[in-house]
Amino acid sequence: MAPVESSFSDVRVIVNDGVYEPADDTFLLCQYLDIIPGEKLLEIGCGCGLVSIIAAIKGATVVATDKSLAAVQNTQENARRANLLDKIDIRQGLLFEPIQREERFSVIAINPPYLPETREDPAYDGAWSGGPDGREVIDAFLAQCTEFLEKDGRVLIIQSSLSNPEKTHQILDTLFHYSTIKAEKRFFYENILLFEGRQPRRPTTERF
Ligand SMILES: C[S@@+](CC[C@H](N)C(=O)[O-])C[C@H]1O[C@@H](n2cnc3c(N)ncnc32)[C@H](O)[C@@H]1O
Repeated sequence: MAPVESSFSDVRVIVNDGVYEPADDTFLLCQYLDIIPGEKLLEIGCGCGLVSIIAAIKGATVVATDKSLAAVQNTQENARRANLLDKIDIRQGLLFEPIQREERFSVIAINPPYLPETREDPAYDGAWSGGPDGREVIDAFLAQCTEFLEKDGRVLIIQSSLSNPEKTHQILDTLFHYSTIKAEKRFFYENILLFEGRQPRRPTTERF
């Protein structure tokens, strides 16, 4: 299929075939992406790169990763079009694999695959299917995220009411001094929530 266009505010991107097309979850993250110029942002699962590009425009230095080569190439293309290749370092890999042990970020953002579906389901797609309970990527992310945060850093996590948000809240409470639902969009079949956790209590490595 031919690429399609997407935009948030006045930021335009193209979305290539096989890459997640920005949707309500993406736009919720874009809307509440508060960045102080100079901050370092890691976006895991960057898709076409819209969130990372907005962060870079707001003054962040960005590392954008995705497991999908098509997504990585799409983000590179959009970053080049926006003249932001010097601000966005784009890497391919699963979760924190492309991140060096010593790298630390002010903000880590993720809009993960969060729908409860398995590879056997006809609707399965690696961009939005999060395993039987929808939590495969969310839980793996939560298990490692504090290792890569600065001591006053924060995480922004999108998820659905269909994938046990209470569990996310509980885990965030153990990992961070402050955790909250920063924003929520209601639909008749699900709610999309944006969680924020701020100030890691201790790096994960010290807790286990
Ligand atoms: C829901 S899409 C979000 C894309 C983009 N951030 C947005 O908001 O439009 C999830 C993205 O995460 C990527 N992804 C899924 N599992 C991943 C993993 N374990 N590690 C890294 N990326 C992953 C997918 O390839 C997809 O691009």
